[in-house]
Amino acid sequence: MVTETRKGIPGNPEILEFAAESGARYTPRQDRSLARILADETALGVIVWEPEGPVLYQGAERFFYHPSMGKNRVSRLRRGESDPIITAMGLKAGMEVLDCTLGLGADALVISFVVGKAGRVLGVESTPITAAIVRWGIRKYPHGPQWLKEAMDRIEITCADHLALLRGLPDDSFDIVYFDPMFRHPVPSSKPISPLRQLANHRPLSAEALFEAIRVCRKSVVLKERYDSTEFERLGFREVVMGNHSEIAYGVLDVEDYLRNQVQDEE
Ligand SMILES: C[S@@+](CC[C@H](N)C(=O)[O-])C[C@H]1O[C@@H](n2cnc3c(N)ncnc32)[C@H](O)[C@@H]1O
Repeated sequence: MVTETRKGIPGNPEILEFAAESGARYTPRQDRSLARILADETALGVIVWEPEGPVLYQGAERFFYHPSMGKNRVSRLRRGESDPIITAMGLKAGMEVLDCTLGLGADALVISFVVGKAGRVLGVESTPITAAIVRWGIRKYPHGPQWLKEAMDRIEITCADHLALLRGLPDDSFDIVYFDPMFRHPVPSSKPISPLRQLANHRPLSAEALFEAIRVCRKSVVLKERYDSTEFERLGFREVVMGNHSEIAYGVLDVEDYLRNQVQDEE
């Protein structure tokens, strides 16, 4: 369900475009309270088209695009500090990265800042509402310095299941393929992600998606997980880089090493 603010223009073309993208049904506000709309439309949540972008009201939660942690991490990079995702990915200007689990796009923002104008970040998100809120939230994001807005705007966003998207890509189309699936056991302190949790696709990374990722990438496949996750072993990630945050780690699968080991195993 999507509607305008009480003062908004009914049937604003942007809202109708958002509704078509996200699958949320448009209902004119007609001066109703959000509680009234929820009752009238028997909906679980309502998205309000606010001047700074779409905001989902669901129970006590509000969900909208905000660069949050991504902005803090980029600010640290600008002060000359590093970020573990850069180490894990061997990230450099000009690289092309496929982010298979976009979420709120915090990692994609850091990646976009580092790869710069000569590089590329394509973010894939399977939940249509999340993909549309992040896409339109970025488009309408009004604050912040130019370097931040430019890095955000360069993130390409597509709504798809990453397995389906990967299957349709040619071999060697990206330098890095990145997965940050919902943790099997959430980190309790990761507050910025909690509104996303209700909407998110919680399926674990599949061996099929990893197989396709290895085919699609030129350098490495990177998986973010809890440092003690059994997912690294299950999926064959032998190298694990610790994050700054003690609970987070990045599994790195170097594609050349992986293919060389496979050939040796077959001989
Ligand atoms: C932990 S969040 C990613 C957070 C993100 N890295 C960030 O920095 O904001 C995982 C996201 O991936 C999405 N997701 C999970 N499985 C997916 C799939 N098969 N295809 C595309 N997106 C998926 C979830 O819906 C969720 O929004």
